[in-house]
Amino acid sequence: MKILAIETSCDETSCAVVRDGVQIVSNVIASSKTLQQQWGGIVPEIAAREQLRYMIPTLIDALTPVMDPKIPGNEIFSVYRAITECIDAIAVTVGPGLIGSLILGIEAAKTIAYVTGKPVIPVNHVLAHMYANFLTGVPAQGAKGNNTPSGPASGIPEDFFPAISLVVSGGHTELFLMESAVKLIWLGGTLDDAAGEAFDKSARVLGLGAGGGPAIQESAAKHVNPGSPSPAPLPRPLYRDGSLNFSFSGLKTAIMRDWGKLSDPTAKHRNMFAWELQESITDVLVAKSLLAAKTHCARSVMISGGVASNIRLRDKLCQKAQENDIYTFFPPVSLCTDNAAYIASCAYFRNNPLPWNRISVQPDLSVEVKG
Ligand code: KG4
Ligand code: ZN
Repeated sequence: MKILAIETSCDETSCAVVRDGVQIVSNVIASSKTLQQQWGGIVPEIAAREQLRYMIPTLIDALTPVMDPKIPGNEIFSVYRAITECIDAIAVTVGPGLIGSLILGIEAAKTIAYVTGKPVIPVNHVLAHMYANFLTGVPAQGAKGNNTPSGPASGIPEDFFPAISLVVSGGHTELFLMESAVKLIWLGGTLDDAAGEAFDKSARVLGLGAGGGPAIQESAAKHVNPGSPSPAPLPRPLYRDGSLNFSFSGLKTAIMRDWGKLSDPTAKHRNMFAWELQESITDVLVAKSLLAAKTHCARSVMISGGVASNIRLRDKLCQKAQENDIYTFFPPVSLCTDNAAYIASCAYFRNNPLPWNRISVQPDLSVEVKG
């Protein structure tokens, strides 16, 4: 089964074709990130306007591997034929996300479904992130990083379940129990800011602009004395409260307070603060994931979402999980941030097709699935 997926929940425009939920045929991502950086963050209006420009070219690029090169000239006819003959369903992100951006992707998916008669599978963006762990094949285009495939060629085999799945992105920090590739139960999440949000806001306070988590990671890597006690230690929020919830908003406040006390902050100070922040967030994420794994007798822990790119988080999780005889999975860095391949994979495993006229935008779609 081949699924064509469309993802436009934030500032990316992405289209992908995925075979049987695991094999990436194409995964094309256009981002307005560079343009957005001038404004210090994502401006929803700019994101939607750029997505309007990118949608059709991205769609055509994603379909190119399944288009018949022998049909001369007529691109619209080739696209139509590729979808009618090679694609079984259209998957689209319906929420949560920015309403204008979501509408754009949804209307594109509905139009394709209307014209070709294919079913549409509505997808929850946050749940979909975790299916990046199931993907193999060509890495995402337009993204850099470690492209080592995470799991075996057919996704994650049955004996790695039950699994704990931590989705950790710019807008969400959520823990799920994954009893199988299909059966998910929400266990807990952040009470205030997401981990990615804490990275992004703190990066701005530390003068790293809109560089967010990647800029913090880079700065933290330059911290010269990571083993020594820090003069500006940060708390580990909710570390030992026994719950599976998170709270990260206090970290940004603490950084603002301590950074503001420095009369002449240097690059050395910045690196130390970045290191401290990264240590605090990753300590909490790893501790809660392992607590969830022990509570639910999980055999593996998988992470996904933009923050799952963080090298320190990956290293710490691997080490702690190994000590507890638990397997770990994380997607290649290129599949951690937003892309349509994992939307297609989620649609395949949680398949719930609807006629095009029953698809609607759900910007506040909940992630609290129960069994
Ligand atoms: O999943 P994603 O692309 O978008 C959302 O659905 O939110 O995640 C973006 C988030 C941003 O907050 C970004 O700062 C964070 O992922 N991020 C990182 C790293 N790379 C991206 N955070 C920490 N370390 C990284 N290396
Ligand atoms: Zn996302």
